[in-house]
Order: sequence, then structure tokens, then C-alpha cells
Amino acid sequence: MKIKNICCIGAGYVGGPTMAVIAQKCPEINVTVVDLNEKRIAAWNDDNVENIPIYEPGLSEVVKDARGRNLFFSTDVDAAIDKAEMIFISVNTPTKTYGIGKGMAADLKWIELCARQIARVATTDKIVIEKSTLPVRTAAALKDILDHTGNGVKYQILSNPEFLAEGTAVEDLHAPDRVLIGGDRETAEGKTAMQALVDVYAHWLPKERILTTNVWSSELSKLTANAFLAQRVSSINAMSELCEHTGADVNEISKAIGMDSRIGSKFLKASVGFGGSCFQKDILNLVYIAKSFGLNEVADYWEQVIIMNDYQKRRFAANIVKTLFNTVSGKKIAFLGWAFKKDTNDTRESAAIYVADYLLNEQAEVEVYDPKVTEEQIYADLDYLGSRSEEENRRLLKVIKDPYEVCKEAHGIAVLTEWDEFKTYDWQRIYDCMLKPAFVFDGRNLLDLQKLAKIGFSTAAVGRPIVLQEKMAEEPSLAI
Ligand code: NAD
Ligand code: UDX
Repeated sequence: MKIKNICCIGAGYVGGPTMAVIAQKCPEINVTVVDLNEKRIAAWNDDNVENIPIYEPGLSEVVKDARGRNLFFSTDVDAAIDKAEMIFISVNTPTKTYGIGKGMAADLKWIELCARQIARVATTDKIVIEKSTLPVRTAAALKDILDHTGNGVKYQILSNPEFLAEGTAVEDLHAPDRVLIGGDRETAEGKTAMQALVDVYAHWLPKERILTTNVWSSELSKLTANAFLAQRVSSINAMSELCEHTGADVNEISKAIGMDSRIGSKFLKASVGFGGSCFQKDILNLVYIAKSFGLNEVADYWEQVIIMNDYQKRRFAANIVKTLFNTVSGKKIAFLGWAFKKDTNDTRESAAIYVADYLLNEQAEVEVYDPKVTEEQIYADLDYLGSRSEEENRRLLKVIKDPYEVCKEAHGIAVLTEWDEFKTYDWQRIYDCMLKPAFVFDGRNLLDLQKLAKIGFSTAAVGRPIVLQEKMAEEPSLAI
């Protein structure tokens, strides 16, 4: 079966980059990405390709290559569904904020809306692909909706979870470790549909990287992968606290254990806590699914990953207060970074939001610099927590466009995102304009602490011994 038209519902962090790469690599296939959000679609269509709504290294070049040739962005969802033989569903599946499963289960309302819209509009057979991350067995619900419309259209449902990480999306899409396709291997129609999707990816990936499984394994593999990755971060973060109490250095531990090929070196960076739109949401979903089968020990095991992560964020903020002589009231704390990791403008679940909230509760004055995140987004993140009024958030927290300005007259600097540019700053210049003693709290183990100490900074980095300047260390009441 040859695919000529692909439709992707959802032009977000996954739908946009994934479809741009498919269009780039499959010039004979027309790819239309649709979304209800008019502003987002207008931004994808902006004449200046640098204004596309998602910042990802290399993405604007890919879009420039394919847009208008065989890559289209549109709000006409019905037309794109009707035309396509293959439809990806790549809409958001956030944690439910209401009703049964509130705070844990994935909210599948947007998925169901897509299925109903496809069922209403389709007049020819379709391959429907779950690209969104979904609870195991969602394909059965989709099939139920699609098969009961009575208009004679036949559907094949595939699961094709996305493993890209933000900040490296294009790289990950060009050369993924594997692509996973789950489908019905028992029937000829199922096999044909799976082969059609394999053929799309085979345009640029070797066959051995394209893995096929049954639908349920594919759906559950995605939740499992994210749970394992997040668990590694929480495990090393748990060790980071022990390091701070014992004089061990978490970076040295990561290196030492990472060289064991059974453990591997990736995802062992201690931090202020993981963020992003996926880890927390997917683990909560996993916990909810386990509980719904009565598997309480399984649920508790995975929930601990989240408990540890929340603790790590709180602990980082509490350590700032404690180190700054047990009060930050009226003191300026400069934030370097707001995004949940470098090279993205995404702030969903970023640790910075929670650290800021904690410090604002302690009456600190927070000023933020991030190279890619907008002021509007930073305030939206804070307002969403509902801890204080919008006016108060704007009074207590300022967003500054210049990194040196943000550090001026600050009592302490907190590094919340590992942006490369922070390493290249003139740290002497920063020191000179800060209040003394000048503190750096490195939540990413990014900066050269020895160099900072030489300049005169006192430093506290996650999982490493605190370094107070000599004069302070001699003073017992200040050596905390
Ligand atoms: P997103 O919020 O950036 O984008 C989703 C888009 O879908 C939004 O623009 C929204 O307007 C649109 N949408 C929702 N309902 C719609 C409808 N009925 N019709 C048309 N458009 C609709 O989300 P995202 O980050 O791209 O994530 C999408 C899915 O992919 C989620 O399930 C997520 O868990 C999964 N995922 C995300 C990542 C990531 O790094 N962000 C990685 C792997 C998997
Ligand atoms: C993650 C998965 O990696 C990806 O496969 C999936 O498709 C979506 O979720 P993403 O959230 O974009 O991707 O970024 P990731 O690189 O996994 O980082 C998640 C968070 O963990 C970030 O806040 C990051 O800073 C933190 N992290 C990661 C650490 O603190 N230490 C590490 O060693 C690795």
C-alpha cells in the first residue's frame, strides 16, 4: 500500500517536528499538520521561518526545506482527515484535573474528540496512528468509537509512540535509536497497515531500527521508557543528598558507576529535579493504571520516583534559604534559566517554577533571565500555580532580558537550566556587581566551581560539598 497523503492532528512539540521530518524525508508524500489553535498554525506558516512556534535546533531549516512543497499547516481539520490515507493523532494527553483519576490519570478527552471527528468525516479507509502517549489499551477504545459509526469505513489502529526529547528533537528524529510500531499482526489488514508505516520510516532509517510489536506492548513500552529514564534521575538525585552530607561528589559517582556497561553513562546527571511535559504525567498515569488493576506495590514503587523529584525541587529551594542565613525576605535572587532543560523554550513542569514559588513564599525578590522563554510564559507558569494574585507575582518576580542586569545587586544566583551560554559569562564582572557575600546555587552542576571560588563566590552545587569563602567559614555561626 502506497501512502500519498498523511494528516497529523496536533501541531505541537511532537506533531510539528515529527511531520516536518517525515515531509523532508518523503518528498512524494503530502503531509498536512492540523490544529484547532489558529495562532499556532499561523506561527507555523509565518513567512519568517525563525518565528515558528517551537524552538528546536535545526527545526527551522527542516521546515524551510519542506513547507509549501509537501508540508502544510492548516486549521481545516476535516479536509485534511478526508484526504489522508494515514492519520497521526498527536494531541495533548495531560494529567486529568477533574473527576475520577484527578491528578493522576491521563485526560483522554482530546483523543476521543479526534476519534469522533475522524469517524464523522472519513469516507475512505484509514490507518489511524496513536502518536500521543496513551494508557495501555487505549487503541481498543479508539477502535470502538471508529467502528461504530455505520458509514462502512474500515480502520486500522496502530501505536507509534514518539521517543524524541525536546532540545534534540530533529537529531532524534533523523537518527532514532529505534522506531516502535504496534499493530494487529494477526490479520492481513493489520499487517498491511503496519508495513505502510514501516515503509514511511524506511525512507531514512535502516530496517533493523524499526521494531514491530503488538499494540499493547507498544503502548506500554512508551510509559515504561519514560518511567525508567525518570527513575534514573531520581536515583542519582537521591544519592546527591547523601553526597552533600558525606563529602562525596555526585559527578564522580555518576562517572564511576556510568562506566559499568550494565548501568551505562546516560541520564545520570544530578539536578534540581526533572521537568518537562512527559515524565511526571506518564509516571502518574502508570501509577493510576497499576492501581486500577489493584497492583498497589507496583504503583507505590513508581510513585516514589515522583515523590523524590518533588523533594529535590523543595530541597534545592530550602537550601538557598538556609545558606542565605535562614532568610531571603526582601533579598534579590537571580535565576539563570527557566526552561525545563537547555535548547528549548518549553517550560512545562520546569523545576524553576516550583523553586520560584517556594522563594516567593519566603518573600524573596526573584529576577529571571532565560535566553528563550518569554516573559508572558514565565508569568503564566507562576499564575497557574495559584499561590498568590497575578499582581503580586508581577510585583515580586521580574523578567530581565540581560543576564548581567539580572545578577546586579543580587544576594545569590540560582542556575535552574543548563544553557551553555551561562558557562561563557564574565563571572568576575557578575561578582563585582553582586552584594557580598556572593552566592551561586548551581542546580545543574554546570559551572566551574573552582573558578568561581577563586573569584570570591561561595558555591553550593547539587550533590557536591558546599564551598564557603574563607572569611565566612572561620565564622562558626555562618558555616552552615
Ligand atoms: P502540545 O500541547 O504541544 O500539542 C498538542 C496540540 O494538539 C495542541 O496544539 C492542541 O491545540 C492540539 N489539539 C488538541 N486537540 C485537538 C483536536 N481535537 N483537533 C486539533 N488539534 C487539537 O503537546 P505535545 O508536547 O506535542 O504532546 C503531544 C503528545 O505527544 C502527548 O501525548 C505527549 O505525551 C506525547 N509526547 C510528547 C513529547 C514531548 O517531548 N513533548 C515526547 C513524546 C511524546
Ligand atoms: C523525555 C524523554 O527523554 C523522551 O524520550 C520522551 O519522548 C519525552 O520525555 P524530554 O522531557 O523532552 O524527553 O527531555 P529529557 O532529556 O528526557 O529530560 C527530562 C528532564 O530530566 C529535564 O528536566 C532534564 O533536565 C532532566 N534530566 C535529564 C536530569 O535532571 N538529569 C539527567 O541526567 C537527564
